[in-house]
Amino acid sequence: MKDKKPRTKLVHGGTKRSQWGEVSEAIFLTQGFVYDNAEQAEQRFIKSGPDEYIYARYGNPTVAMFEERIAMLEGAEDAFATASGMAAVNGALMSMLKAGDHLVSARALFGSCLYIVEDILPRFGVEVTLVDGADLDQWRAAVRPDTKAVFFESMSNPTLELVDIQAVSEIAHAQGALVVVDNVFSTPVFSDALGQGADVIVYSSTKHIDGQGRTLGGVILGTREHIRKVVEPYMKHTGGSMSPFTAWVQLKGLETLDLRVRAQAQSAQAIAEALEGHAKLKQVIYPGLPSHKQAALAQRQMGSGGTMLAIELEGGKAAAFAFLNALDVIVISNNLGDAKSIVTHPATTTHQRLSAEQRQTLGITDGLVRLSVGIEDTDDLIDDILTALDTA
Ligand SMILES: Cc1ncc(COP(=O)(O)O)c(C=O)c1O
Repeated sequence: MKDKKPRTKLVHGGTKRSQWGEVSEAIFLTQGFVYDNAEQAEQRFIKSGPDEYIYARYGNPTVAMFEERIAMLEGAEDAFATASGMAAVNGALMSMLKAGDHLVSARALFGSCLYIVEDILPRFGVEVTLVDGADLDQWRAAVRPDTKAVFFESMSNPTLELVDIQAVSEIAHAQGALVVVDNVFSTPVFSDALGQGADVIVYSSTKHIDGQGRTLGGVILGTREHIRKVVEPYMKHTGGSMSPFTAWVQLKGLETLDLRVRAQAQSAQAIAEALEGHAKLKQVIYPGLPSHKQAALAQRQMGSGGTMLAIELEGGKAAAFAFLNALDVIVISNNLGDAKSIVTHPATTTHQRLSAEQRQTLGITDGLVRLSVGIEDTDDLIDDILTALDTA
């Protein structure tokens, strides 16, 4: 399947059939595996082959199918599936860093990612420098010979600022640092992060990959050497592996990923165009709009504006809450990438933990609303938003 187009890989990649020849991938909901004899058990513990399993925290056939399918799509040599997106971010960073190492990270991060780089890593002796991810001069100034890794979200949550993967990778590689990218907002459909220079990619597969709001999951992708020698030992011994049930749900999610994400991005573009210039809005932030300050980078890096947009209402929190409460089709929640369109008020929910000053630096104002565009009819979504803006 490796030479096939993305949609074909997403439907067939990684599939292994049991002796029954099932069409839909089997779910191996088992913790352990039976050995033919004691010698075989001993041998598996010395070295397990690709289709030989010991225990589901170490690996499982359904999870392996998921890992192979997403790795094939990303063009990665290997992948390790995790229990959540945060298990992936934590695993990717903790497995490669040790006391005395230096990490440079973009400042505009999802709250839990920021907690890892700002609170957890320094507790274990990792020095962290935070930079404005869009400012290449800050990356150049911060990355030094002892920098072990750089970390950023390729598109930030919730203000949709892009980091130039290729440029930051060149800066990092010049000093021998690895590039770790949280690629959730860019989605596996619109990303070529490895091709653009990243070494390790992490996803919260809870988002677009599940795509229907059911399971938590994550994945770390990279070279076989890095995944098996660095990531796997950390993950399998610390317990952040993906469950076979999740892997099965998300394998089915991968089958429709390309169709869903492209439809979502098309709607997001139409919604952004319909809303830009609206009297009740201070701004519409969407990387697919020519008015976005990184529109050219978005086209070069992703070929799309993505599935997320942010709008800033005149009138602060009161106006934002009135708008949220007036929506009919679009639901209020804090997830993203779902088939259902979702609105979030980041200042009071996902980014509540930040100080008012930090929120201001990141542009997370009280009037800012994040919209994750689903797969409903575009016209219904636009009607819903315009009616709610009239009411608000
Ligand atoms: C950019 C980003 N990274 C990581 C995560 C964490 O993912 P999970 O909720 O699956 O742990 C999220 C969740 O919203 C996110 O937006």
